[in-house]
Amino acid sequence: MQYNQILEDSTGSEHIIEIKDLCKSFDGTKVLKNITFYIRNNEFITLLGPSGCGKSTTLRIIAGFETADSGIVNFEGKDLKSVPANKRNINTVFQRYALFPHLNVFDNVAFGLKIKKVGKKEIEQRVNKALETVGLADYGERYIDQLSGGQMQRVAIARAIVNRPRILLLDEPLGALDLKMRKEMQIELKEMQRELGITFVYVTHDQEEALTMSDTIIVMKDGIIQQIGTPIDVYNEPKNAYVADFIGESNIVAGTMKKDREVVLSSGITFECVDPLFSEFTEGIANLVDVVIRPEDFYVDKEAEGRINGTVESLVFKGVHYEMIVRSDDNIEWLVQNVDPFAVGSRVGLYVDPDDIQIMRRSELSPDFGSFGIRHPGDKSQDTDSKSSSDAAEVKESEAKSDDVEDKEADED
Ligand SMILES: Nc1ncnc2c1ncn2[C@@H]1O[C@H](COP(=O)(O)OP(=O)(O)OP(=O)(O)O)[C@@H](O)[C@H]1O
Ligand SMILES: [Mg+2]
Repeated sequence: MQYNQILEDSTGSEHIIEIKDLCKSFDGTKVLKNITFYIRNNEFITLLGPSGCGKSTTLRIIAGFETADSGIVNFEGKDLKSVPANKRNINTVFQRYALFPHLNVFDNVAFGLKIKKVGKKEIEQRVNKALETVGLADYGERYIDQLSGGQMQRVAIARAIVNRPRILLLDEPLGALDLKMRKEMQIELKEMQRELGITFVYVTHDQEEALTMSDTIIVMKDGIIQQIGTPIDVYNEPKNAYVADFIGESNIVAGTMKKDREVVLSSGITFECVDPLFSEFTEGIANLVDVVIRPEDFYVDKEAEGRINGTVESLVFKGVHYEMIVRSDDNIEWLVQNVDPFAVGSRVGLYVDPDDIQIMRRSELSPDFGSFGIRHPGDKSQDTDSKSSSDAAEVKESEAKSDDVEDKEADED
């Protein structure tokens, strides 16, 4: 297959990477199914999805540590297939930092350059610059076991950027840090990326992290891309129920549309919306749709005609707002956020601006109707994701050994 051109998109930005129809199976199980996307020069792009959806595999194929069964990875217009990992001008930062404990910080960062026989003076300049960039200018002499987790992570980043790659791949690089350090590093990484002018391809299963840092988010599930867009796009205009649920919290319920800009909820309440009928819909027939309403988009007021009327079942203070569960009279639980509290047991009426109602096509991803927080039938990823992350960390620990080897291989040339 010929695929040798750098396409321009509507932003006019050059695509540094173009990936087309990437497929990969392990032991007969397809883990990547026709993955196609591009990466713009200098952008911060994030692969987001639950454990096992194929994020790392995609990254490892870009890095050259894994070979795709079929499909193309173009880097600046050239097919990477026959380019070995260490010749790709791409560097990877792994979740487990894969640092050398017997070397100090300076030598860890200098390692790859020494192998490449870069001159002593240049090594010193480049390492010091890299350490400065990651905020470790005075740490060159320290040994790895004298560093905090966050500092180790910075050394790993310094070691990657000292090679001046065109692209930095980061696979859950903040996974081992505590929440506060994570948040700090998120902001620092974003600043670093701007400063360095390097394209970052970031992997995480943490939607908040993705929303905070990315220019573009790619939402994946079971080896398939569900949506590509800016953080605002995927949050405000989720393409399907899965994305709506995965990115932030949502109420997703069944509805029908008979005509443009009007949706009827399962309970029979009619709401104005901004969407026309989907092209395949027939006017005048109750076409099935999914209706997504974010908890923060409800207005809570007295019960009234045309509102979702119900009883407050729970009330929790969340710092800036209150979170309530309102059970409507048709027995649907609604997750609602409001700056003012309404007492448990009180009767309320909920309504929404037309702008804040998202209408989506029904699909196999449509949820069990009528529950917030959404459990997709047969999909346990939402349940297991947070719990499994500690297990995953252990698995990754053993994986880190092989990453370590690859990383060195990549450096060794
Ligand atoms: N070398 C391998 N051999 C066999 N199966 C593999 C291998 N590498 C990955 N897999 C499987 O491929 C699927 C995708 O794995 P991948 O590591 O890409 O997921 P991920 O999205 O990065 O998940 P996580 O968030 O847990 O890191 C998983 O089901 C995984 O078990
Ligand atoms: Mg992974």
